[in-house]
Amino acid sequence: MELLKEKFALVTGASRGIGRAICVVMAQNGADVAGVDIDPDAMAETAKLVEAEGRRFMSLKADVCEMDEFEASVRSVMDGFGRLDVLVNNAGITRDNLLIRMNSEEWQSVIDINLTGVFNGVKVAARPMMKQRSGSIVNISSVVGLLGNPGQVNYSASKAGVLGITKSAAREMAKRGVRVNAVAPGYIKTRMTEELSDDARKALMSNIPLNRLGEPEDVANVVLFLASGLSEYMTGQVVSVDGGMAM
Ligand SMILES: NC(=O)c1ccc[n+]([C@@H]2O[C@H](COP(=O)([O-])OP(=O)(O)OC[C@H]3O[C@@H](n4cnc5c(N)ncnc54)[C@H](O)[C@@H]3O)[C@@H](O)[C@H]2O)c1
Repeated sequence: MELLKEKFALVTGASRGIGRAICVVMAQNGADVAGVDIDPDAMAETAKLVEAEGRRFMSLKADVCEMDEFEASVRSVMDGFGRLDVLVNNAGITRDNLLIRMNSEEWQSVIDINLTGVFNGVKVAARPMMKQRSGSIVNISSVVGLLGNPGQVNYSASKAGVLGITKSAAREMAKRGVRVNAVAPGYIKTRMTEELSDDARKALMSNIPLNRLGEPEDVANVVLFLASGLSEYMTGQVVSVDGGMAM
């Protein structure tokens, strides 16, 4: 079933990890995809995978923190694809440290990318989507935004903030046919989590009822559902994809 047939999607942080998996799953379901990343060289692999599904891929270099760069990306999508049906705000970073040792740069860089980046994306996608009277925005939060985590005050604040943006934007845009939802992944196997020590991994597993780390595709499949018409009566929601960690 092609859930995104004739749809056009923009995914941030598309070079690797969860972002790449989202691009591929969307292409498998009929969408043409634009990927935004600060690392455009690494997007070649994503482009190859999307094109192997017979869909178009547009590679865009932009930093989500910079409003003018995000604006230019959306303009490129409108010029190239003619419309924007789906935006996935996925780009994100961690800069972990204990609260008492965390410096302003560690705090601010995470807030800039994970929170301001999402604000920029929702704001620049809002205009074309409201004009079309349709669109689906999916913001990638985290289980840590729901539960907190030692060493991650910056990251958990940014991801909790994403839920605030999601719910307020959903209320603002519902009447214009634009839906905004969030996904809260647990621990997913990507570069972001590959440095876990054996002890940390063991401790983590004891908190995951389904007893495994998630795959990027586990998240991508839920993003696909929220992006597609299957979820057309859902807005302002947070869906956890975490093996049961937060319940
Ligand atoms: N991996 C996990 O366990 C996990 C859990 C919960 C939430 N998440 C969230 O999922 C999202 C993707 O995570 P991932 O694990 O795939 O991470 P990753 O580090 O593998 O990939 C992140 C991507 O974002 C890009 N990026 C970073 N800063 C950017 C910027 N300023 N502008 C544009 N692109 C930028 C990177 O170049 C990279 O391609 C993030 O928002 C992350 O916080 C991940």
